[in-house]
Amino acid sequence: MSKKNDDFLKSIISHAKEYGFVFPSSEIYDGLGAVYDYGQLGVELKNNLKTYWWKAMVQMNENIVGIDSAIFMHPKTWKASGHVDGFNDPMIDNKDSKKRYRADQLLEERIERYEKDGKAEKAEQLQKDLDEAILADDLIKLKELIEEHNIACPISGTRNWTDVRQFNLMFSTQMGATSEGAEKVYLRPESAQGIFLNFLNVQKTSRLKIPFGIAQIGKAFRNEVIARQFVMRMREFEQMELQFFVQPGTELDWYEKWKQIRLDWHMALGAGKEKYRFEDHVKPAHYANAAVDIEFEYPFGFREVEGIHSRTDFDLKQHMEYSGKKLQYFDTATNQRYIPYVVETSIGLDRLFLSVLSHALTYEEIENGGKKDTRVVLKIHPVIAPIKAAILPLTRKDGLPDKAREILNKLKVNYNTQYEERDSIGRRYRRQDAIGTPFCITVDHQTLEDDTITVRHRDSMEQERISIDSLEDLLEKHTKWTNLLKEIKTDSL
Ligand code: GAP
Repeated sequence: MSKKNDDFLKSIISHAKEYGFVFPSSEIYDGLGAVYDYGQLGVELKNNLKTYWWKAMVQMNENIVGIDSAIFMHPKTWKASGHVDGFNDPMIDNKDSKKRYRADQLLEERIERYEKDGKAEKAEQLQKDLDEAILADDLIKLKELIEEHNIACPISGTRNWTDVRQFNLMFSTQMGATSEGAEKVYLRPESAQGIFLNFLNVQKTSRLKIPFGIAQIGKAFRNEVIARQFVMRMREFEQMELQFFVQPGTELDWYEKWKQIRLDWHMALGAGKEKYRFEDHVKPAHYANAAVDIEFEYPFGFREVEGIHSRTDFDLKQHMEYSGKKLQYFDTATNQRYIPYVVETSIGLDRLFLSVLSHALTYEEIENGGKKDTRVVLKIHPVIAPIKAAILPLTRKDGLPDKAREILNKLKVNYNTQYEERDSIGRRYRRQDAIGTPFCITVDHQTLEDDTITVRHRDSMEQERISIDSLEDLLEKHTKWTNLLKEIKTDSL
């Protein structure tokens, strides 16, 4: 049974909460808008996704290294990067409900509505007008389009709009003990700037030659006004970013290479080719000469999961100007000194997490004791599954728990495992299906006699009897990193 429709997001959110993947932040105080906490299984899945990225980007590439820079950075960083003056969204307020919206998103939603209603021509025309208005930074035109297309506030139902204004998305705070001496600092809105500021430190200490990359995983903060669709648009989120430094003039070739490498990386997770598409930016950000999104088909439609930008030499040049320090590279191959150009790949970990849940959460109709039943299964790739194996003694008697724990203790050093002895075996299987555990290992009376166990496979529900000694080989075969990483080609770097 497919539940992959508009309500599917609700199913994902409640599944994530029920099984300890994602909780609303500060829930006992009624939550904090667009901030979420990852629970006991969510953190495992998230860590596995980080490891997958880190291995593919850093570990498998001789010329890419990782760093972990601080969230707080010198305030001049954000002046130089353009975020203080230009990191804005065009916002419009409804005067009756006092609610604020992103003007471009109101129009995007209207385009989607036209498409759903079969009004293709209207959708196309509005898309064209919206693209033109955004390209020209024309806030007056954005308001005109909202009025022309009769867009009403979903809360008040009125069309009583303010003008469209720019709204800066950075959070700020004070650093220092006294209010007079305190300095205004920002919570970084992207992790990328920590890489640019460390460009020379890393290049000199690693002795890497261009082309080379610096990667980082870390939190970013944006005061998103429209925060919705679960972990898609959060105020505190995590990014996995690569800045790849290249010789000027070669950046667009690298940009094309990185587009393919990153798409292949996503597709190895198994959601299917048709779930991804490239969407070129109509108006690349101020720092880019080419930009594309990798979009994933979420339950609410195709949306950006990763951005790839050819960032030119904008950032290093700006930081050179603002800091007065030379951020150049001497190329011994060409005997030239230059500011490298940069190709960036930037993926939102939380959006990746949601893409994995969206394709993995499955409702299957099965026969259960002659009756129709629905099995809820999280068909996550075994390599990134939070728990690799559940060890289940058939009963709580006759020494079966001791035997099961003996197996658990053997496996737990190399594999994330779970021990469970409560409830019927059928219910325990179902619970493990729902959290995506690829293998259930049942210990029964025969185990005590011949050291064999039953292995139940999550997706097929097939069971096989094997010896305890061969368990590690089975887990290794199905959950080793090579299974995911064999698809990733790095020889072109
Ligand atoms: N350094 C480039 C940069 O930050 P971006 O397109 O603004 O580019 C990169 O962000 C990725 O970060 C996006 O593709 C998205 O996956 C994720 N992202 C951005 N804003 C987000 C938010 N509010 N909540 C969750 N993820 C977000």
